[in-house]
Amino acid sequence: MSIKHNLFYGSLFLHQKLAKHFKGELVFVPSGYLKNNIVTQPMAYDAVSSNMYQDYKHQMDYVRYRTIELIAEEIGRQCIPGDIAEAGVDYGDCSWIINRAYPDRTFYLYDTFSGFDKRDVEVEQNRRYTSAEFFESANYFKRSNFKSSDEQMEYVRKRLAHPEKAVFRKGYFPQTAAEETEKTFAFVSLDMDLYQPIVNGIEFFYPRLSRGGYIMIHDYNHREFQGIKQAVAESETKFGPIPKFPLPDQGGSIVLTKI
Ligand SMILES: C[S@@+](CC[C@H](N)C(=O)[O-])C[C@H]1O[C@@H](n2cnc3c(N)ncnc32)[C@H](O)[C@@H]1O
Repeated sequence: MSIKHNLFYGSLFLHQKLAKHFKGELVFVPSGYLKNNIVTQPMAYDAVSSNMYQDYKHQMDYVRYRTIELIAEEIGRQCIPGDIAEAGVDYGDCSWIINRAYPDRTFYLYDTFSGFDKRDVEVEQNRRYTSAEFFESANYFKRSNFKSSDEQMEYVRKRLAHPEKAVFRKGYFPQTAAEETEKTFAFVSLDMDLYQPIVNGIEFFYPRLSRGGYIMIHDYNHREFQGIKQAVAESETKFGPIPKFPLPDQGGSIVLTKI
């Protein structure tokens, strides 16, 4: 082998070693990136260069959160009009990421802040979409650490970087969206786990979604929540085929769009 070859392979080896060593550890935050509504860096080997690594490493769903941010960049770049919404907020693990990605847009947050509604659970169990055992094993009805729904809501508000943009709608969705019937939306996250609120969510938001906007639905490919696929399928019989793309995030989300 020539000296040239040796040098080439030597430098390749060194690069690989360095990449391995720094994997996920290089954190670079360009100054002013939030002000310009660019929430991420251009992607080149993102696991190495992500400026959000410190945020993600505790959260365990890199694909979901990063997709939310990249969608925000796309919506910003293409000037897609509309507000932002999240139906199914819980403790706000996703809300603060959405709110940070859209510092200039009104953000509606819908949740009972006290768990599932009995009516939705009844439909779920009658149709056998989710087993009673799953609800029990996941401790779904007893997991709040808060004394009241207001306390939980205030906890979420405090997590937001731009709380002045947030409009909290506490109570049963879709009744709580009554004041938004004239609004349009650029991005919506639907994460209410059960068939009934998801079918209601698509029915409410899809007609109000801007062209080029996105609805991200959690749990579409979740093994336990079989009602989500049914909700999407039924919505398509109503609205016609909806362009959509599945994600390999932890809940197996699907992203709907409108062209
Ligand atoms: C899985 S949690 C949401 C998790 C959150 N998106 C996150 O990423 O951390 C589901 C939430 O949906 C809410 N929810 C379910 N059905 C609802 C309904 N019909 N109206 C309002 N909130 C509902 C529950 O209260 C619960 O907080």
